[in-house]
Amino acid sequence: MPNNFLRVQSGDAEIILGLEKQTPTIVHWGAKLDSANAEMLESITSAGIAHNDSDIVGPFGIWRENARGHAGKPTLQAHRSGLDFSPKFEISSVDESTNHIELTGRDDQASLELRTRIESLDYGLFRFTNTVTNLGSGTLFVNDLDTWLPLPDRASDSMDFTGRWAKERQPQRRKIQFGTWLREGREGRPGFDHTVIQLALTENADFQQGEIWSLGLEFSGNPRYAIEKQPTGLSSMMAGTVLLPGEVRLEKGGSFEAPSVIASYSAAGIDGITSNHHQWIRSRVTHPTNIRPRPLTLNVWEAVYFDHSRDRLDELAEIASEIGVERLVLDDGWFGARRDDTKGLGDWVVSEEAWPEGLNPFIEKVRSLGMEFGLWFEGEMVNPDSDLYRAHPDWILKVGDRIPPEGRNQLVLDFTNSDAFNHILESVSAVLRESKIDYIKWDHNRILVDPANEGMPSVLTQTAAIYKMFDTLKERFPGLEIESCASGGGRIDLGMVQHADRFWTSDCTEAMERQQIQRYSQMAIPPEMLGTHISSEVSHQTARKLSLNVRGITALFGHAGIEWDVSQANPEERKILKDWATYYKQNRDLLHTGKLVRFEQKDSEVFISGVISHDQQRGILSYVAEQTLDGSNAPRFVIPDLPRDTLYSVKAAYPSGKPLHSKSLPTWMDGVKVTGEVLGQIGLPAPVLAPEYGFILEIQAI
Ligand code: GLA
Repeated sequence: MPNNFLRVQSGDAEIILGLEKQTPTIVHWGAKLDSANAEMLESITSAGIAHNDSDIVGPFGIWRENARGHAGKPTLQAHRSGLDFSPKFEISSVDESTNHIELTGRDDQASLELRTRIESLDYGLFRFTNTVTNLGSGTLFVNDLDTWLPLPDRASDSMDFTGRWAKERQPQRRKIQFGTWLREGREGRPGFDHTVIQLALTENADFQQGEIWSLGLEFSGNPRYAIEKQPTGLSSMMAGTVLLPGEVRLEKGGSFEAPSVIASYSAAGIDGITSNHHQWIRSRVTHPTNIRPRPLTLNVWEAVYFDHSRDRLDELAEIASEIGVERLVLDDGWFGARRDDTKGLGDWVVSEEAWPEGLNPFIEKVRSLGMEFGLWFEGEMVNPDSDLYRAHPDWILKVGDRIPPEGRNQLVLDFTNSDAFNHILESVSAVLRESKIDYIKWDHNRILVDPANEGMPSVLTQTAAIYKMFDTLKERFPGLEIESCASGGGRIDLGMVQHADRFWTSDCTEAMERQQIQRYSQMAIPPEMLGTHISSEVSHQTARKLSLNVRGITALFGHAGIEWDVSQANPEERKILKDWATYYKQNRDLLHTGKLVRFEQKDSEVFISGVISHDQQRGILSYVAEQTLDGSNAPRFVIPDLPRDTLYSVKAAYPSGKPLHSKSLPTWMDGVKVTGEVLGQIGLPAPVLAPEYGFILEIQAI
């Protein structure tokens, strides 16, 4: 019997494609199936049932052609001025190895070729890449080229994310119902509401259990995600990029490779899906923690804003060094006429007014205090009130002569224009050559409006250009690290993860808000790539007043830092900051390599999360009370899934000060020995904490 099935495995997951219907059809995307063989698969996939004779029965192939009777949105939507809009691809070649499958389909009548490559990335992840080629004459206009994967019937729920400035990555979970649930971004950047990965879940799924299927777009332009249930009862999920009208035009022989999509499966709940992504990202040789430990950072933004007075900055640097900070970052305001956010953006020359001696004396001071130095840029942007804009008003993204509306007093430069791109590349390079700068924070504070190069849509090329900018800077300045910031978390995605070393998680640095933002920003991005800073006692974003206890605990679970005028911290607070900095350094090996775990504590308002080493020998978890308890006892703190027979030493730690609490603290917090089985079945009595306080729980196998 011919083998009509192609299989590719990744970690505990497997994709089986059936070719018997002359089109590649996903027979299985889920757990690795050791017992399945071709005969078995044949016997269960060839059977079809129709309700009545007018039904055309799926499953349809991954290309979802209308020409085969599929009535939903096809994978490829393209046309030649209306012609060749409904292709039917016959498989023309199949290329496979143990870690990839590549299928090419051809439609000779429409003169089109569609190629889908599925690559195993290990850790339960697969990369899907679709490429369309125009084989005929006449320009082909590509409207959409997405990745669609069918979901099993038991995937009943979906999860995606929304958000706004300073409140990124808020989860939305819903039932998959008939119709299409579509999430699109059209900001020319992923945006605060970006769904870094979209999830489909079984009904029982939570962080710890249940099956999850996910898709994530490897691209930092306009994202698109959908989950749909067709009238056939079949559900699918999709990821791709929004193409603007006319953005992709192919002449004869031309190809368009759509941004890739990462598909993941886990039978171990949301934390399982997260772990798949974290392990994959951490497996890269260029992953920052594979190069060196993440330095404790102090960013001066919330301390000084645009006031770059040297005395204040010197004092901050001295205190930072005493605390144990390893990298100091000078934020916005050091260049051109940029004394506030109305002018100077685009002029990447050290301001003589703000820095009469240049930056070097300060940088030398920072270095002599034992710290690295980082500097802020926002290279894609320009204030109309700048020398750059006065000299080159035509270098912005715009349609015709129409100037788009400003956002934060700024416009976006057209990076597809090589003059504009090279000018910024050279002026940024000149600054980096002039001084020893280890790190740049690269911001992006305005959405793309009328993103056009010479009148034609250019989000794809603009996005490719920012990747090229980062890659070129890293090539020119070996060891340079880049943080991707976009008013906080507006450009966090699986595309940028390959070009940047760190993300600024959110402009909201207030710890209780951060508990929620970080919990979901870590969904696919490992914590060591997400900046988490302690800010002032009274938050600049929410005005909430929070203890150093909870601010410190919250900032530990990421690439830790400080974003606070530490000259205002009293001696006791400075002492605590010093202890906290030491704790971070002593434990970052685990914090930045362990498996992330998040627990749902039913009927209580606490955040419990942390990391457990992959060998399950060590763990550091945080317990933070969000509100007062409904009952007078705190629910037990259960840590599931540890090896039953391993004996652990368990104790509480207070790296940033003790929590306020209403009853005496349970005695186990001073240290106990319990097995993994007991921790998972009985758990520990949690303390009754005042809201907005927490503690760290350390576990260590004996
Ligand atoms: C954005 C960033 C902030 C800060 C300011 C500077 O808002 O998200 O962290 O760098 O710009 O203007």
